[in-house]
Order: sequence, then structure tokens, then C-alpha cells
Amino acid sequence: MLSKKMLAALNDQLNFELFSAYQYAATAAYFEGLNLGGCAHWMKIQVQEEMTHAQMFYSFIIQTGGRVELEAVAKPANNHKSPIAAFQDTYRHETQVTARIHKLVDLALKESDHATNSFLQWFVTEQVEEEAAADAIVKKLKLIGADTSGLFFLDRELAARTVSAAASGAGAQA
Ligand code: FEO
Repeated sequence: MLSKKMLAALNDQLNFELFSAYQYAATAAYFEGLNLGGCAHWMKIQVQEEMTHAQMFYSFIIQTGGRVELEAVAKPANNHKSPIAAFQDTYRHETQVTARIHKLVDLALKESDHATNSFLQWFVTEQVEEEAAADAIVKKLKLIGADTSGLFFLDRELAARTVSAAASGAGAQA
């Protein structure tokens, strides 16, 4: 059974995962506008991953006897200045998610809520991957600089992204 505080915090994170999906959808639309279909595809795969994360919070709240409370989802930013700024914004967004997950773990440990702590550990690991993926693309874009053919090749590389096995596996459990 979740404490009131833990339940509220988990519902808040459920909302933030939905916001993350919404943010990635907005960033995908930004890239569609630049005709960078591979970058847009990468963002749309991320939409699916974020929806899986939201579903996991939803299922965990239900399984532990809590009530899911859906709130309004905030408007995403859609005014990125450049492709590299869009991925830098993505990286910053993921560091924000990491900080939120760590705060949830802190609360679970404080309350000796071992079930919630165990549930959250998947997200602790996932966030390492989420940050690294965005950071790797930022680093490539820095190397590419103003070279448009480099941007073309990176776009082709990002077009090949598939939903991660970890996320689809977790989604199946959710
Ligand atoms: Fe659900 Fe990108 O963290």
C-alpha cells in the first residue's frame, strides 16, 4: 500500500512521462519541418518509449491499490533554435527526468517502501541510457558542425532506430 505522499509523487511522475512523450512529439514535428525525417523518426520512437514509461507508472499505481489521477499535460517547447539545440534540449530534459526519478527513490527509501524502490530501479538504469543516447547525438552534431553532408548521414543513421528491447520488455510487463 502506497503512502499518500508516495501516491501523489507517482501520479506526478506519470504526468511527467506523458509530458515527455508530448515534448518528443513536438520535437519530432520540429524536425519534420526541417525535412530531417531520420531525426523526426528518432523522436517518434522516443514518444513510444515515454508512453511505455507512463504505462508502467499507471500499472504500478493500480497494482499497489492506488488511484491513478490524470492531470492536464503541459504545453511542450517547440521553438528549438537548431538541430543541435533540439538534442541539447532533449539531453537537458532527460537530466530533469533523472533528478525526478532519484527524488522518488529517496522518498521510497525514506518510507521503507521496498516495493516502490524496486519498481523505480528499472527507471534508474533506464535514465543512464536515456541521457547517454541524447548526449551521443549532441557530440556527433558538434563534430559535424556546419557540414550538411554530415547532417544528412546522421539523419540516415537515426532513421534506423527501433524501440529498445528493454522498453518493449518492460512494456509487456506493464
Ligand atoms: Fe521516461 Fe525519457 O524518460
